[in-house]
Amino acid sequence: MSNANLDLCVVDVSQGEGNEAMNRKLHPVNTGQMPIAVAPTIQALTPYEAVSSQAAIEAQPDHHTSFKLDWNECTVAPSPRVNEAITEYLSQGRGLNWYPKLGSSDLVEALVEYTGVRDDHLLVTNGSDDALRLICSTYLDRGDEVVIPVPTYNHFMVFVQGRGAQMVTVRGETPFEPGVEAIDEAVGDDTRLLYLVSPNNPTGVIFDPEAVARLCRNHPETLVVLDEAYYEFSKVTGIELVQECPNLLVTRTFSKAFGLAGLRVGYLAASPQLIDGLRRIYNPKSVNTLGQVGAVAALDDLEYLESFLDEVEASKQILRKFFKKRGVDAHITPANFVVVRMPDVQTTLKKLEERDVYVRDRSSYPGLEGCLRMTVGTTEQTRRLIDRIGDLF
Ligand SMILES: Cc1ncc(COP(=O)(O)O)c(C=O)c1O
Repeated sequence: MSNANLDLCVVDVSQGEGNEAMNRKLHPVNTGQMPIAVAPTIQALTPYEAVSSQAAIEAQPDHHTSFKLDWNECTVAPSPRVNEAITEYLSQGRGLNWYPKLGSSDLVEALVEYTGVRDDHLLVTNGSDDALRLICSTYLDRGDEVVIPVPTYNHFMVFVQGRGAQMVTVRGETPFEPGVEAIDEAVGDDTRLLYLVSPNNPTGVIFDPEAVARLCRNHPETLVVLDEAYYEFSKVTGIELVQECPNLLVTRTFSKAFGLAGLRVGYLAASPQLIDGLRRIYNPKSVNTLGQVGAVAALDDLEYLESFLDEVEASKQILRKFFKKRGVDAHITPANFVVVRMPDVQTTLKKLEERDVYVRDRSSYPGLEGCLRMTVGTTEQTRRLIDRIGDLF
């Protein structure tokens, strides 16, 4: 076997003065050869650069007063039962040296109750991004056509491109309407997959379950992926349709309403046939033990979830009135974020950051020129937010 293309690293273990560990440095060896190329399918991609305010906020001495409103996370800690369950798990001496429970079987059991679908329709994943990637890795191949209404959750496109599939984007008359007819028309005999997000990020558009069922029926050869990351906020779901639509996959997450983004737990629901296909490359130990324990505990405290959802709803009413009074073009979505159109986005972003408020610039998205997206939290947080930045609008 030839090493011709390898860029080698050697460990320098020369016995010098001082601390030996200090002398054990990694030195890249310039072999004069080209670095190993990425797979041909990946060559056209540039690294996905996620922009989060997290580092900027953590660098502030009084970072607890910052408003992190850029990633649609839950703005409060998860149910106290999550911490209790994790602490109890660790204190029982069960430790972390074993692999997690395979296939997250306890969590699947809890999800049967929460979702109302049978266990053979469910698969737990390492966040819903992992579910989306698994779907693309299992069902897409080079050249396959994928229809994506835009604007959308762009990270999905990375998974599509990673398979060498072709994207066809559909843009409705306005970004704030579902445009089901245009989508129906865009999906053709050769469309392998259709990606819908409901409520959509960043527009909040909801796809009525009847419309989803119709799309599934009209295009039985196309996989319809319904991303319900924000389902809890809207309470509109197509999950039960997986029992009647053999081509539907629904993905969900514990990262948003349940407040477990740091634990990375998501799941998907689909027909047992589709699940069998996914299992060919599914990694049954991909969800860590603490994530499983935490998610089960979160499902055990739906009262806490409901009280947070009520807070978000009440906050949206406060924001609706606030923006209306100032004549600001604000779209209050059914999810936990609002979209605000500003005459000068960059200046607004800068001023917000000067006041320690971090939101997301969505002005480059189709139809969202001049728009910022802002996460919504509790009423107490919203009042404090308005006190801090109200004069900027
Ligand atoms: C629409 C949508 N889908 C999926 C995700 C990924 O969530 P997770 O944390 O479950 O990977 C996000 C995160 O922002 C999202 O907005």
